[in-house]
Amino acid sequence: MRVALGADHGGYELKEAIRKHLEAKGLKVQDLGTYSADSVDYPKYGFAVGSAIIKGEADLGIAICGTGQGISMAANKISGIRAAVCSETFSARMAREHNNANVLALGARVIGAGLALDIVDIFLKTKFLGGRHTRRLNLIADIERGENI
Ligand code: RB5
Repeated sequence: MRVALGADHGGYELKEAIRKHLEAKGLKVQDLGTYSADSVDYPKYGFAVGSAIIKGEADLGIAICGTGQGISMAANKISGIRAAVCSETFSARMAREHNNANVLALGARVIGAGLALDIVDIFLKTKFLGGRHTRRLNLIADIERGENI
């Protein structure tokens, strides 16, 4: 599995911990920055993570900022991206099983690194269930195309 990873300065330290964690498991990680704790603008990193998925360079993405909110909002502006902010493992599992989320957003100022790594592991290993959930995701895609549902 190929994972795109991006963070602003608020998420930089957690990104480094997640990158090391995933590389130790043998996963291919595309580190899209930021590469220091200097202040940067989170939309650029949400865009980079989402774009890597849409371009087919990564299977799933992880985007981190202080709260996970801003970077997920930016990623979700890309057509085909479904970014979910998760602060516990149940939401991470449901985001994959029901919503086929392709980006996990984390708030580095909200949760600790231990919980974040558990959330990451569950998000990456859980599969989309399909079935009735596909119909609902198709409706989200209709909204994205400007259709009146
Ligand atoms: C940066 O200070 C902070 O606003 C950002 O990391 C994030 O929390 C935005 O949603």
